[in-house]
Amino acid sequence: MILVFGGNGQLGQELSRAAAAHSIAMHALSHAKADIADGAAVAAALARWEPDLVVNAAAYTKVDLAETNVEDARRGNETGPAMLAAACAGAGVPLVHVSTDYVFDGEKAEPYVETDPIRPLSAYGRSKAAGEDAVRCVLKRHVILRTAWVYSEFGQNFLKTILRLASSRDELRIVADQCGSPTSAQEIAAAILHIAPQLAREGAWGTYHFTASGDTTWHGFAERAVAAAAPFTGRRPVVRPISTAEYPTPAKRPANSRLDCRLFMRTFDYSPRPWAECVDATTRALVAAPQPAASQTMTNNTGTNHVA
Ligand SMILES: NC(=O)c1ccc[n+]([C@@H]2O[C@H](COP(=O)([O-])OP(=O)(O)OC[C@H]3O[C@@H](n4cnc5c(N)ncnc54)[C@H](OP(=O)(O)O)[C@@H]3O)[C@@H](O)[C@H]2O)c1
Repeated sequence: MILVFGGNGQLGQELSRAAAAHSIAMHALSHAKADIADGAAVAAALARWEPDLVVNAAAYTKVDLAETNVEDARRGNETGPAMLAAACAGAGVPLVHVSTDYVFDGEKAEPYVETDPIRPLSAYGRSKAAGEDAVRCVLKRHVILRTAWVYSEFGQNFLKTILRLASSRDELRIVADQCGSPTSAQEIAAAILHIAPQLAREGAWGTYHFTASGDTTWHGFAERAVAAAAPFTGRRPVVRPISTAEYPTPAKRPANSRLDCRLFMRTFDYSPRPWAECVDATTRALVAAPQPAASQTMTNNTGTNHVA
C-alpha cells in the first residue's frame, strides 16, 4: 500500500488517478488531512495506514512568494520532509521524495547529473535543497526524484496559463532564454508507480533525475501548447520570444534546467516520453474538457512568471 502526502497537488492527484487506473492500493492525504511538518500527524498517518511505501508529493511551490515567505517555504520543503523521513525511519518504511531542478544554478552548459554540485539561486531552491539533505540524513531507504517544469490538468501551471491567455490575446511574450524539459505530472506519477515494486532491491536508494525526454525553452513550450490547442479552439496567437531580463521576477531561476535522466533510466529500466508528445496530450485533454477559470495571479513555479 502506498501512502501519498500532498494528495491535492498536481502530482498527488496524478498519483491517485494512475493508481486507480492500475488497481494499485494507494491512499492520498491532502494538506488539510496531514501537514507533513506536523510530526505527530505524520506518525499517526503512518500508524493508521501501515504503508509499504510513502510518497512525498507535498511541497511549498510558490517560487516567487518564497523569497519573502521564507519560513513557509522552509516549513513545507525542509521541516516537512525531515519529519516525514524521521517518521518513515521509525516505521521502517521507504520514502520517495520529490525535488527540483531549482537546486542548481543553471550555469552548466550540459544537462545536470545527480552528482553535480548544487547552488540554488532562490529561497525555494534553498528550501528544497535543505529538504533533500534532511531526507538523506535521516533515512537510508529513500529515493529523491528531482524533476522540472511540472504541469498537469490539475492545479495551476504554465500550460494552463498559456491556454487561458491564448483564448483572449493575439500575442504572447514568453521567456526564451531558460531551457528545460516540460514534464507532465502524469509522467512523474507513472515513473513513481513503475519504480515502487523495485524499491525493495538493494542499491536502488539515492538521488535520481527524472523529466520528460528532450528539452526546449518556456517559449518553445508555449508555442507547442498553442499549436496543439489551435485545431480545437480556432485560435493561434503569435508567441514572441523575450529574455529573462525583459521579465524580471522576485526569484532568480536557472538558465539551464536540463536534467540528465540516464541514471534513472538505467537503474529502473524506464524511458520517459518526449516532452512535446506529453504537452500535446495534456493540451488536448484540457481544451476538450475546459477546467474552471484559473486565478489571474499565479505564483507557483510554473505560473505566469515566464509570461509577459
Ligand atoms: N510545479 C513545478 O513546476 C515543479 C518543478 C520541479 C519540481 N517540483 C516538485 O514536484 C513536487 C510536486 O509538485 P506539484 O507541482 O505537484 O506541487 P503543487 O501542485 O503545488 O502541490 C503541492 C501540494 O502540497 C501541499 N502542501 C504544501 N505544504 C504542505 C504541508 N506542509 N503538508 C502537506 N501538504 C502540503 C499543497 O497544499 P496547499 O495548496 O493546500 O498548500 C499542495 O496540495 C514538489 O516536490 C515540487 O517541489 C515541482
